[in-house]
This record gives sequence, structure tokens and C-alpha cells, in this order.
Amino acid sequence: MEKLKIGNVEIDNPFVLAPMAAVNCTSYRLFCKKHGVGLIYTQMIDADKLVLRKDDEVKDFLNIHKDERPVSVQLIGANTENLVKAVKMVEPYADIIDYNMGCILEDYLALGCGGKLLTNFDRVKENVSAMVKATKKPITCKIRIGWDGQTINGVALCQMLEECGVAAIAIHGRTVQQGYGKRVNWTIMKQIKERAKIPIMANGDVTTYQEGLDLLEKTGCDFVMIGREAQHAPWVFNKDFVRTNDSVKAEILDFIDYYQKYERRNSIQELTQHVYWMFRDIKTSLRAKWVSECTTVEEVKEFLDRID
Ligand SMILES: Cc1cc2nc3c(=O)[nH]c(=O)nc-3n(C[C@H](O)[C@H](O)[C@H](O)COP(=O)(O)O)c2cc1C
Repeated sequence: MEKLKIGNVEIDNPFVLAPMAAVNCTSYRLFCKKHGVGLIYTQMIDADKLVLRKDDEVKDFLNIHKDERPVSVQLIGANTENLVKAVKMVEPYADIIDYNMGCILEDYLALGCGGKLLTNFDRVKENVSAMVKATKKPITCKIRIGWDGQTINGVALCQMLEECGVAAIAIHGRTVQQGYGKRVNWTIMKQIKERAKIPIMANGDVTTYQEGLDLLEKTGCDFVMIGREAQHAPWVFNKDFVRTNDSVKAEILDFIDYYQKYERRNSIQELTQHVYWMFRDIKTSLRAKWVSECTTVEEVKEFLDRID
């Protein structure tokens, strides 16, 4: 079988961890890697804020571990100059650099960033061309299929992005206006893939490993990207994982070890937040939200021991 590649970066398998703000910390990314994910994205990093940092702070800020590679560092922004600067700042540490063109947060839309870019092809062309020119690392884009139901322009956009020199495109199969409503539109992903000469990632609503394979099959895409399901169940990348109370509890305990080993912030709030998300699949009369009252790692472990 031909090796999967984005630019010159080899990727072991087609499963990709989606960028997720406030979720994709280093320990969590490494934990997804343990479960077999092929490519990892960081959370989005605001280019306008990054450029205010000193160059020597960037390595610590990104905190990318050698065992999680390949890693794609995602940038968000609209200002060309800052994006180019940010590309150069993350370049030494990133295997791939991704441009966020799908974020639906109002604050970013108001600044012309994220999904708002789908309404401004001129700005996209200028920014993406400049980013591609600024680095030898592959530049990729993550898009939605259009701004709203009347302007589903994903196919035209992807052709333009390809002409700008991007190495791959990830498509969340919804419009910006849809947010997370209704089901994803996989037909548009398929149409984009049929016309593209670069790798395409299908994204949206995958909740099992098999559904990931099905989406690859239906769309013909090269990669499948998983977000929310991986937030609750990083073991979604592991085709052999059987979900039981005992197996999920054992994984949560292992994640706690990962967090203590790899996370510089060492924040009990961040840790209990992850445990809360991963607790979803445990069948018990214990209320998941009680974990947020724990103030030490020992208390979190005692909480897990109370699962009935
Ligand atoms: C908590 C959370 C944070 C997210 N943060 C980002 C982000 O930083 N950058 C981005 O491009 N998309 C972000 N997304 C969108 C996801 O990457 C993904 O496109 C979306 O959740 C659809 O995939 P899914 O159905 O597998 O969750 C975020 C989604 C969630 C749920």
C-alpha cells in the first residue's frame, strides 16, 4: 500500500485528531497517540497574540513532545503580516502548519478570521499564498463547506487553495451558519476529493472507528478527522478497544499518569475537566460533575474508586 503523506511528512494511518481549543493539551495529544491516531493537530493558536511573544518562548508554549509527531500546528488570524510571522515562529517545531478557516466563534468572525474567510476569497488567497511562501513546511487549511446554505462554495474554494500551494485540506462538512446542527454533508466532501490532486480529510460526526472507515469509503477521502468523540473517548482511534466500565476506568487512570508526567501547567481544573469528559461512557450512579469538586489527584482517584 502506498504510504500516506502530506507534503513530505509520512503518516502511519488515516485517522486524525481534530484541533480542539481547550482540549488538545500535550498529555491529551500523547494519550491519543497511545491509542493509535495517525496525525495530531494542536488547538488553534491566535497568530495576532503569538507574534507578541518572544521567539524563545514558543518552544515551551507549544510543548510538542517527540513521541506525538507528526504534529500539525494550527494558526488562526486574518492579518497577513502576523500570519507570516507566526508561521516562521512555529516552523522549527511543527511538522505541518494549518490555517483555521472554519472557526465559528463570534469574536473571531467579527475580526474576519476562521469561518468568515469563506466570504472573502481575496483575503484567503493573499494569506494562504504568503504562508506557503514563508516556509518549507507543508501548509494545510481546515475549512467548512461554505458560509450558509445559499453559498456552499467549498469546491471552488478548495480549487483555489490548491492553486495557492496548500499540501492538504480538512473539510468539516457543515456551513458556518449551521454551527454543529443537522448532519454533515459528505457529498460535498466527495465532490471536493474527486477534483483534488492533494490529500483531503473528511471531518464531522464520526463516533466510532468503523464510522471513520465508512466515511473514508463514502467520500474517497484520504484521511478522517475526529473531534468531539475523541474528546470523550480518545480510544476511538483504537480499533480493538472494548468499552466497559473497567476498561474505561483503567484508561482514565492512565490518562491521569500522562497528565502528571507531560503537562507543565499541572492544573487540577484541567485534569478534572478531561476526566469529566472521559467519564461519559461509564455506567454508574455517580454523577460525573462531582469530579470537578476534587482538589487533588488523590481525590480524583478516590472518586473513580467509587464507581459502582
Ligand atoms: C471543544 C472544541 C474545540 C474546537 N476547537 C477547534 C479549533 O481550535 N480549531 C478548529 O479548526 N476547529 C475546532 N473545533 C472543531 C473541530 O475541529 C471539528 O471540526 C468539529 O468538532 C467537527 O468534528 P466532530 O464532529 O468530529 O467533532 C473544535 C471543536 C470542539 C468541540
